[in-house]
Amino acid sequence: MNAAHWHRYFERNASRAELSPLPGWSGQEDVADATLEAVARTLARFYLGETGEGTVAAQAKAVANLDAHWVDSIRLYVAEEHRHGRELDRLLRALGHTTPQHHWSEALFRHGRRALGFRTKMLTIAAAEVVGVEMYSLLHEHVPGPIGALGALVAREERAHLEFQRDFFDEQLRGAGSLERVVTLAAFLGITACAVGTFVLDHGPLLDALGVSRARVAERCLSRVHEVLARGSRSEGTSWPPRGVHYEYVDSHRSL
Ligand SMILES: [Fe+2]
Ligand SMILES: [Fe+2]
Repeated sequence: MNAAHWHRYFERNASRAELSPLPGWSGQEDVADATLEAVARTLARFYLGETGEGTVAAQAKAVANLDAHWVDSIRLYVAEEHRHGRELDRLLRALGHTTPQHHWSEALFRHGRRALGFRTKMLTIAAAEVVGVEMYSLLHEHVPGPIGALGALVAREERAHLEFQRDFFDEQLRGAGSLERVVTLAAFLGITACAVGTFVLDHGPLLDALGVSRARVAERCLSRVHEVLARGSRSEGTSWPPRGVHYEYVDSHRSL
């Protein structure tokens, strides 16, 4: 899709209601406590990533000759990540957890991004999308109820983010020499390998609880990268609204 299409997509998607567990919901009887703990531990770390990335929207504004549709799409893209953050915050609170302020893996990527220019920062965020799609898809596939439903919805939006990034770079690199294209692809693959490595190292308790091997996660991420670059799409977990789960919907325009 081009910039105008993506702008329309993000504008439309900005109006979707936010998920909020029903009052009184405090866990899932059909999910083991150890699994709930592992899910909460992972979601707390993802919360930090979802609520960051604000500066890239301001940076996009300052990029010379960047189409206004891309600039506004990036602003809405960041706002969508912040909505994920609010949804994780509510789910974590319902599970009896609070949201953390800092974690080394998020700090590593945040400091890495700050040291980079706009384009490389976008590549770093794109790499995080690969891991995000797979993590939320795993929740959808392995955890029933509200956690799995949130996984399905957020995975669907993270897949769109990854495709948005691909289309953005496709257009930005149109007319670029083959060296610049190869360097950009190599940077994306390198950063993605770091992001996947960090995920499998740091989220072992979740993978163990879900019975998914580190190798399987790496394989899924590789397949996701191949798919997005080849413009394919894997269909999974795209149903909306989620059926048979207990959520209420809240105003989507509150800020964190
Ligand atoms: Fe997100
Ligand atoms: Fe995303």
